[in-house]
Amino acid sequence: QTDIPAVKSVVTEFPVGAAITGAEITTEHGELLARHFNSVTPGNALKWDATEPTENTFTYTQADPLIAFAKAHDMKVRGHTLVWHNQTPAWVFQDASGAAMTATAENKALLLARLENHIRNVAAHYGDTIGTWDVVNEVIDESQSDGLRRSNWYNITGLDYLRTAFKVAREVVPSAKLCINDYNTNVAAKRDALYNLVVKLKGEGVPIDCVGHQMHVNVSWPSISDTEAMLKKFEGVGVEQQVTEMDVSIYTSSGESFPTPPADRLLSQAYMYRDMFALFRKYKADLTSVTLWGLADDNTWLDTYPVARKDAPLLFDTRLQAKSAYWGVVDPS
Ligand code: XIL
Repeated sequence: QTDIPAVKSVVTEFPVGAAITGAEITTEHGELLARHFNSVTPGNALKWDATEPTENTFTYTQADPLIAFAKAHDMKVRGHTLVWHNQTPAWVFQDASGAAMTATAENKALLLARLENHIRNVAAHYGDTIGTWDVVNEVIDESQSDGLRRSNWYNITGLDYLRTAFKVAREVVPSAKLCINDYNTNVAAKRDALYNLVVKLKGEGVPIDCVGHQMHVNVSWPSISDTEAMLKKFEGVGVEQQVTEMDVSIYTSSGESFPTPPADRLLSQAYMYRDMFALFRKYKADLTSVTLWGLADDNTWLDTYPVARKDAPLLFDTRLQAKSAYWGVVDPS
């Protein structure tokens, strides 16, 4: 479909992007991507297990073609992600004898050294080509009284992994925007915990430029007002905000499963995209990019998460045709 407006030509308040996980830069997927979007996020290719599968052996074979495609089509790139508790090889958290690290001073020093080496190599490999990095991903757990996720990173280093990650990233790629990224930031307890952490770390001089809101939502959740409260919360903290992984599941509970997407769900989805994008555009002074977690419904992580079932959370269908969701974004009348 080349007769319909490009998303990026309609939504001009900020770059609009899509995450790419596989062979999507080839054939029609690549055309669709370059036609509608001006930003791209490698969905898996820059995660630790892809870039440093064994210690100090760096491989960029997955990410390099995506980055080259972005460059050739004048698209921005979001780097996702330098530090996470998932998709991180086991060796990272093993001590010198190969046993799981316990919280000792020696292990802490070893883990921080591995973290620093990882960031120095990966960030330097891409330099200015990657304008924004999700330096850390999903570090909040609002069920903890201090709001901090008990990951291996936290259990072994406390807050020092965050301090080291941002400090080293700033040193290696001083012009890149450095983000802290998380999900469910529209939920009051979660956003408050994230807010408190950002204020604390920025107060110490930790170079955080940006808060990333993943925005994995569904056709009836969350409300626009909770989402607006999320954006408002981080105004005035001295950070940019980005929507980093938006998709709108057709499911409202994990028990549901439809063989094909019901018409009423697709309509609710279009309204959700319409209302969310209207909100984002209203907050253009705070929001510096909006990225969808995928291109078309033929390839979405929600087909396997949280359970195996066919989902349809994106703007284009399994045949790459524009859905009502697309029209909700480009023609909100
Ligand atoms: C997902 C990818 O899309 C999947 O292909 C992979 O199997 C698991 O990770 N939050 C994040 C992303 O920050 O990195 C996740 O991506 C989706 C949830």
